[in-house]
Amino acid sequence: MKSNNVKKIKKIAVLTSGGDAPGMNACIRAVVRTAIHEKLEIMGVYQGYQGLIDDNFFAMNSRSVSSIINLGGTILKSARSEEFKTKEGRKKAYDNIKKHNIDGLISIGGDGTFTGANVLSNEYDIPVVCIPGTIDNDLYGTDFTLGYDTANNTVIEAIDKIRDTAASHDRLFFIEVMGRDAGYIALNAGVAGGAEAILLPEKETPIEELTKLLEYAAEKNKTSTIVIVAEGEKNGGAYNVAKKVKEKFDFYDIKVSILGHLQRGGTPSSADRILATKLGYNAVQEIIKGSAQCTVGIRGSKVVTTPLSDAIHNTEFKLDADLMKIAKIMAM
Ligand code: F6P
Repeated sequence: MKSNNVKKIKKIAVLTSGGDAPGMNACIRAVVRTAIHEKLEIMGVYQGYQGLIDDNFFAMNSRSVSSIINLGGTILKSARSEEFKTKEGRKKAYDNIKKHNIDGLISIGGDGTFTGANVLSNEYDIPVVCIPGTIDNDLYGTDFTLGYDTANNTVIEAIDKIRDTAASHDRLFFIEVMGRDAGYIALNAGVAGGAEAILLPEKETPIEELTKLLEYAAEKNKTSTIVIVAEGEKNGGAYNVAKKVKEKFDFYDIKVSILGHLQRGGTPSSADRILATKLGYNAVQEIIKGSAQCTVGIRGSKVVTTPLSDAIHNTEFKLDADLMKIAKIMAM
């Protein structure tokens, strides 16, 4: 891991980038208050990497983060910056970082955020420590990302509610959940919500395999059937799957529910607030120690660091195979 032992850190900046996630505000709060405790100056940057380019910096103090631990979204706003992907954009960003005498940057976000941090800190002498924040849980170097626990709970609540109406009308529901590349929400919320079948981006499920599961559910006289469909699964999402299933089972009363962006909002859970606080605190400590180009995550109950280059190159996610097997057994 790159280390920046030479320079004493006096002033840092924090930003959030990519898709927002519940717990980001709790994390910003932890970064700001730890920095102040360590006698550092701290600036916030609005709109992620685009804010670095647009010089959208502002000074923060302990009151800037009052009463935000319980808020979803991010008070710093977020963006996916195309300009930051260009050399010229990053040069502007670095010039603004220097203009404000920033000695280190803390970036909270997902894989795009990690990649941006890696490119910037490879090109310029600026230590960056990243904190994993995305509801998708698809980042290497941590067991859990900020927002994942809250999103799971949101999805479970939705499944429970849909189950009530599905059972009242003997209906088959396809519920689409977020997860373009990773099926963590689909698998875990599916198990917790008692889904009859779960379709994941990581595992191809031919329609014939799904229809067998549905035939089995029908034989067992189930009063409701719920299929969780991750948005990135290979059959093209819940509407397509529902259409193909309807062709085979025209007797089923089929409904589709796309949960969409409501999964990204809401009050962060206790687990997300505590994780955010631990990671925010430790990210500041890493910057002070001279760490650069690393992520701060949680493994078991331990806070760990991972080199940014490892984090961005490990994009193969292995879902819990046991849980996938158990999910099928539980659907009997
Ligand atoms: O936050 C992660 C995620 O929700 C993905 O699962 C999803 O595909 C993507 O972000 C959508 O984000 P946006 O609508 O902001 O582009």
